[in-house]
Amino acid sequence: MNLAWLGNRVHLLACVVAFCALMEPAAAPHRHPQDPTKLTENRPWMDRNLSPDERAELVLKEMTLDEKIALIHGNGMPGWGEPRPNAYLGNGGAGFVLGVPRLGIPMIQISDAAYGVRASAQNGRYSTALPSNLASAASWDTQSACEYGSLIGRELRAQGYNMTLGGGVNLTREPRNGRTFEYMGEDPILAGTLVGNRMKCEQEQHVMGDIKHFAMNDQESGRNEVNSVIGKRPMRETDLFAFQLGIAIAQPAAVMCSYNAVNGDYACENRFLLTDVLRKDWKFKGFVISDWGATHSTLKASAAGLDQEQPLDDFYGPRYKQAVESGSIPPAELDEHVRRVLRSEFASGIIDFPVKKSVVDVQAGLETSRILAERSIVLLKNEKGVLPLDPGKVQSIAVIGPHADTGMISGGGSAQVDPPGSKAPKWQDKVWFPTSPLQAIRTRGANLRVAFDSGANPGSAAELASKSDIALVFVYQWTSEDMDLPNLSLPENQDALIEKVAQANPRTIVVLETGTAVTMPWLDKVSGVMEAWYAGSKGADAVANILFGEVNPSAKLPITFPLDVNDLPHPQLQKPSSDGVGLAAIMKSGEAKPTFAVHYEEGLKVGYKWYDAENKKVLFPFGFGLSYTKFEYASLEVRAGAAVTLNFNVKNAGSREGVEIAEVYATLPGDSGEPPKRLVAWSRAELKPGESKQVSLTIPMEYLSVFDETTNSWKRLPGNYSFHVGSSSRDLPLHAKLTLD
Ligand code: BGC
Repeated sequence: MNLAWLGNRVHLLACVVAFCALMEPAAAPHRHPQDPTKLTENRPWMDRNLSPDERAELVLKEMTLDEKIALIHGNGMPGWGEPRPNAYLGNGGAGFVLGVPRLGIPMIQISDAAYGVRASAQNGRYSTALPSNLASAASWDTQSACEYGSLIGRELRAQGYNMTLGGGVNLTREPRNGRTFEYMGEDPILAGTLVGNRMKCEQEQHVMGDIKHFAMNDQESGRNEVNSVIGKRPMRETDLFAFQLGIAIAQPAAVMCSYNAVNGDYACENRFLLTDVLRKDWKFKGFVISDWGATHSTLKASAAGLDQEQPLDDFYGPRYKQAVESGSIPPAELDEHVRRVLRSEFASGIIDFPVKKSVVDVQAGLETSRILAERSIVLLKNEKGVLPLDPGKVQSIAVIGPHADTGMISGGGSAQVDPPGSKAPKWQDKVWFPTSPLQAIRTRGANLRVAFDSGANPGSAAELASKSDIALVFVYQWTSEDMDLPNLSLPENQDALIEKVAQANPRTIVVLETGTAVTMPWLDKVSGVMEAWYAGSKGADAVANILFGEVNPSAKLPITFPLDVNDLPHPQLQKPSSDGVGLAAIMKSGEAKPTFAVHYEEGLKVGYKWYDAENKKVLFPFGFGLSYTKFEYASLEVRAGAAVTLNFNVKNAGSREGVEIAEVYATLPGDSGEPPKRLVAWSRAELKPGESKQVSLTIPMEYLSVFDETTNSWKRLPGNYSFHVGSSSRDLPLHAKLTLD
């Protein structure tokens, strides 16, 4: 990637001599300050009183065929094949789309930005790393999701980007999926609500948002050649429902279609997904952008509803133009793609508020990152109140773990955020963020003795633990795009390390830095467990604040932690043949056919719905998380009207201020064919010691409906419903019944 980038720089020099005259118009709009009155005279689409649709239509009428084609494909990505002569126009991100300078339509500069803006080291810039997307889902908090999106939106613009590729919301059907950390967990209502709020606030910064990967891209193994096979009902009620909600809340500029095929057709040429569901049922007005290299045809993709190919123009460049000229693609079809791109540009404000590079607010970003991490760290075990640590009583702490002296691990792939001052990491390098648990813990008390052992030699780590009041073991599981985990065990003998340390000192607390669930064969032997996920730029301070009780943990798991991989719906991961022949054919041919299939026969039973339906014990259930205080639930009342309304009381029965995420699940009528229960509402209640609050929640009827394949519509079935309220999917003390006609 580095070399390719250098290649682009060489092209830049070459351009000075050979191409600059040609390229001049593309750069022009950035040089002329625009007088708004003049603009609306000559360019009526610059009138902000018109709707984005009207403005898009006015521009479209002025455009030539070549200008239209330019809007429906990318121009390359640093590191992706040979750079094009116009590569110098890019901003160093995932790609760019040429604008129409004579009409005042800017270039689209695109960056990956899952948990922060990507490739800042490569480009000599700076980005904040937020906690992973999965971590942010553990906050169950729409306000936090909004702060997350705003920060990324601001940093994108500061770095010269006007479009983000964040917004991952594939449901965790397969927890070994290496991208689980980029998504929002296993429940469609939780995931869709949070991704929607994140993207809404991101787009408020005037960047175009993108929700991805549409759809059923639930494993990385063979992602370009797998056919995900699933019924319409489970797809609409689960995986697609997360997208539906996210799109309804955020109205994102774009939806990214995924690499895989769904029920036989590649996602980027899948009429059912792109036209029937997205455009017709959901009335999505933005554009569909292909994942990088996920376009496989011109005619089929265009007719199915793919609006823009990325990162190049294999199918949506000269071939597309030729197809229009020869009449095999109707001009109106091209116009529809272009109209959608233009509409999103107007709706997001990237035309009215052109990007201006500026300095990233580093301190504010770090502060936000720490606060969001504190709201996302889940306390899983706290035996005999070992936590919070009292620096007045604890005199010595052993900090154990690979890199626990210098950093915390982060998630890889196109989501990777570079640490400040680092070299650009290579694809799938393990990147440790310089947020030092050892240092953060050392600041907690003048008389505290804090010693470090990497754990490379479990014997020496155990010896240190035996001489310390408390042993803190920081363990990690690295995951990334383009890989799946072989299982859910901690790698590199870390289970054995924990066992050994816990044997030496039962006051052992494990801090997990993981991208997905892990199994814990040592659970009974340790006193405390905290799930810190990939905790971002300020992870160590957030962990220390919770360990020492400056922050009372409130987060809850957005995925189930199973006891064993054999309990998963698919104990064995399906993989393509290892010779790669199928993949090579697919990437070249343009008549791509998947080479293997994953049958999602568990259907509606995703995550906790699977374990509930199959009566399986789990290690930690969906929705689980401890606090340093106790909460009690009472007095549930349920009423039906246009929506279902619930009232109940939550009381802080402990002696510390805390936040409780109260969860509501519904059981649908017995003949509905649904799993035992689904999450339908939740609330974050902030409570002082002894304080009691009435929580009122409204459940939209859609959340109680099922998808009827025969009529292709949602139906709320008549019959008996029950509602369950409590602190996790497996701790629900309050119940109420309701009969709905
Ligand atoms: C990933 C996308 C990403 C794109 C651009 C692809 O490999 O699947 O999520 O946005 O690359 O980097």
